[in-house]
Amino acid sequence: MKICCIGAGYVGGPTMAVIALKAPDIQVTVVDMNAARIAAWNSDTLPIYEPGLDDVVKEARGRNLFFSTDVKATIAAADIIFVSVNTPTKTYGVGSGRAADLRYIESVARTIAEVSTTPKIIVEKSTIPVKTAETIQQILAANTSGAKFQVLSNPEFLAEGTAVPDLFNPDRVLIGGERTPEGDAAVETLVSVYARWVPRERIITTNLWSSELSKLVANAFLAQRISSINAISALCEATGADVDEVANAIGKDSRIGPKFLKASVGFGGSCFQKDILNLVYLCESFGLPEVAAYWNQVVSMNDYQKRRFSARILKSLFNTVADKRIAVFGFAFKKDTNDTRESAAINVVRDLLAEHANVVVYDPKVPAAEIMSDVLGKGETNPRLTVATSAYEAALDAHAIAIVTEWDEFKTLDYTKIFADMHKPASLFDGRNIVDLAKLRAIGFRAHGIGR
Ligand code: UDX
Ligand code: UDX
Ligand code: ADP
Repeated sequence: MKICCIGAGYVGGPTMAVIALKAPDIQVTVVDMNAARIAAWNSDTLPIYEPGLDDVVKEARGRNLFFSTDVKATIAAADIIFVSVNTPTKTYGVGSGRAADLRYIESVARTIAEVSTTPKIIVEKSTIPVKTAETIQQILAANTSGAKFQVLSNPEFLAEGTAVPDLFNPDRVLIGGERTPEGDAAVETLVSVYARWVPRERIITTNLWSSELSKLVANAFLAQRISSINAISALCEATGADVDEVANAIGKDSRIGPKFLKASVGFGGSCFQKDILNLVYLCESFGLPEVAAYWNQVVSMNDYQKRRFSARILKSLFNTVADKRIAVFGFAFKKDTNDTRESAAINVVRDLLAEHANVVVYDPKVPAAEIMSDVLGKGETNPRLTVATSAYEAALDAHAIAIVTEWDEFKTLDYTKIFADMHKPASLFDGRNIVDLAKLRAIGFRAHGIGR
């Protein structure tokens, strides 16, 4: 069996590496039109940082795992084609700012139709709006020279930073297909790939539309929990309650559960905001404005939480941060990843720059060029924004520290030394509730957390 995966990103790369590791008899080739990205996958420095991934790639690469820019030839030779291209939020035209931009999906479907001469199973891996399979089917049907296609939905539930353990031991694998004999056969083929390491009872099969929708709904429910606890964090700050104590108390109710109740500066990442906006847009297009408004509030609350954090910094620093040096610890959207898409850090840094602060960012895994272009736009510079190579360097002569990503190393810094090197009064704003505020206050910091 030969698998081709189109798109060598955060989803396609790790997923295919694990399939290749667990299924040595299947030849897995990941293709991407971005030659630099493919070169990085073939080098010692992989293009994405993900704990455990280096070892998986080292073992499988060259054996039955390959990375290539030859998109067409790899598609032509494959039995199963995973589509893992990006589906960003549209920035123009109808649905701008909310609908998914499906042009990469469509272009892939056209390429598949053009070069295929043998039957193919096409698997949607990218998160896509419900009914995308229909779009793909129509493009294939209109352009094929006779090859037979089955389109499946197999959404990826891995979280960045834990991609390898998530793939090794998934809560479930979801496969949606057409409820026809040909559809069922295609589903069974894909089930047989995962069944090599995933217990059969964790592989769920559904119709295509349930599978496509489940991905959006899973992310909407997860994000809703964070927005719910973040909403309560504002109330905690107003009342003297401690949000971590509240989260612990409610999480003990097994109907609520303890996970995803960590109050923060706001959720980020490539999925949550995009998928909820997608869901909202979908509801509106099906004539369900009340449902759309309900889910849209999850995103509005997240925007509020990000704004609230920078506003609190401004207020605590006597309503002016102009020309004050502010150290931002962390830039990735969460720890253990170099991904910065939709990171709350981008909003926080922009808000501070708008107040004419001198912002110094330090992140252990995000390159300086990425930080600059995320905040300012590609190729732009601003003398007020600089990047440091350590937390200590960033905090030197600063008036305040803002912890925006929960990297483990920020828990064990020598805050006594950092305090000595800062302007007084020295403030610290913990946007992730990872440091001990009482200890910092004992050192002399004015220390603030989220919801406490
Ligand atoms: C609730 C809380 O569960 C309890 O912890 C608190 O002390 C008092 O309020 P109660 O109102 O008695 O208890 O019942 P509960 O089981 O929570 O159900 C409340 C309503 O939600 C019922 O109408 C129930 O039918 C409905 N419900 C519950 C659903 O519609 N779907 C569900 O999945 C669960
Ligand atoms: C998410 C889903 O978890 C995953 O199943 C899906 O396939 C893709 O989207 P990911 O975006 O990689 O994964 O990270 P996740 O761990 O879900 O965190 C998302 C954001 O929420 C991060 O910014 C994180 O810091 C934040 N978060 C998470 C909180 O603020 N509080 C929490 O309790 C949990
Ligand atoms: P994700 O987080 O969903 O994996 P990424 O942006 O990290 O998203 O990865 C998507 C990849 O898909 C990118 O590397 C991009 O170059 C690639 N891609 C997009 N369209 C095509 C295409 N038509 N052919 C090949 N690769 C593509």
